[in-house]
Amino acid sequence: MSLIEKYAAYLPVTPDTPIVSLSEGDTPLLPAPRLSELVGAKVFLKFEGANPTGSFKDRGMTLAVSKAVESGATAIICASTGNTAASAAAYAARAGLRCIVVLPEGKVALGKLAHVSHCGAEVATVRGNFDQALEVVRFLSDEYGLELVNSVNPFRIEGQATGAYEVVDALSDAPAYQAMPVGNAGNITAYWKGYQRYREAGRSQRLPVMLGFQAAGAAPIVAGHPIENPETVASAIRIGNPASWKEAETARDESGGLIEAVTDEEILSAYRLLASREGVFCEPASAAGVAGILKLAAKQFFSPEDSVVCILTGHGLKDPDSALASAPEPLLLDADGPSVARALKL
Ligand code: F0G
Repeated sequence: MSLIEKYAAYLPVTPDTPIVSLSEGDTPLLPAPRLSELVGAKVFLKFEGANPTGSFKDRGMTLAVSKAVESGATAIICASTGNTAASAAAYAARAGLRCIVVLPEGKVALGKLAHVSHCGAEVATVRGNFDQALEVVRFLSDEYGLELVNSVNPFRIEGQATGAYEVVDALSDAPAYQAMPVGNAGNITAYWKGYQRYREAGRSQRLPVMLGFQAAGAAPIVAGHPIENPETVASAIRIGNPASWKEAETARDESGGLIEAVTDEEILSAYRLLASREGVFCEPASAAGVAGILKLAAKQFFSPEDSVVCILTGHGLKDPDSALASAPEPLLLDADGPSVARALKL
């Protein structure tokens, strides 16, 4: 069943809305025993890499593209650090729409670039960062009537709120804490809305405390001002002036939570730990939430009975370069059993 059909009662759709779906959502919520031990709480990983284009963006894109088709649009446009673009390209292909993506030059991970082009989107790379690319697509959308499918499109946020519904459905209540990366700040906005709406509908007893984490070199909300030249290894969240800045602060403040920074080193260490100790391969940005809770745990932030859900926003295969950069070189050996055995110290 499509995500829209499953949660139709909580989404702005009617029986006449044409549904453009790739069977998104319904992603695993995995218990993380080793991480739980390290953090001193019950940690769960919501693996959004299991979505059809490998990131959480598909939750919002199915709705944004369905509504675009409903309104008679023939073309969509977005700026992106890569995942939004891959999702837009795939859903546009499915719907038969023209898709234009504007990307910051040289800063989009390889798997995302391949995905976008392969799905037939038209790609414009600009000499600038994501924030500048977003300004460009806002202009093009206003001037040329293209449907903007960045998370400033309210349907994107509504669709992404389904992530919160799934967490509550799986745990029979909201978790005590939810940890996640923050880039353009749409997803933290969406989850907070989702948790609130589900509680109002009587589907949960409580609301989670929201824990957002930005990369230290791209942490405008933490700094309290836009960052002109954001830099981080986590290219998905290399953003200096988030579109949903205010809404993210609302989520933080209303939930009694926090938005803090984690260094690239902490992100990469959590990224490796997730893969090597839990078997979960996410992209670097996705590990920012896990890096954040490990940092908080060092200050005895959590109690053993607390449930902590980390949103792992994108699949590790999106960014093979980052994975290989921190992996040891494979052994190159003669193709005979005894010499391989010797080299492996068997
Ligand atoms: N994690 C991943 C893997 C992302 O791709 C993004 C955002 C985020 C986290 C942050 O989510 O922006 O809602 O706060 N990627 C956007 C893109 C910017 O263009 O794909 P956010």
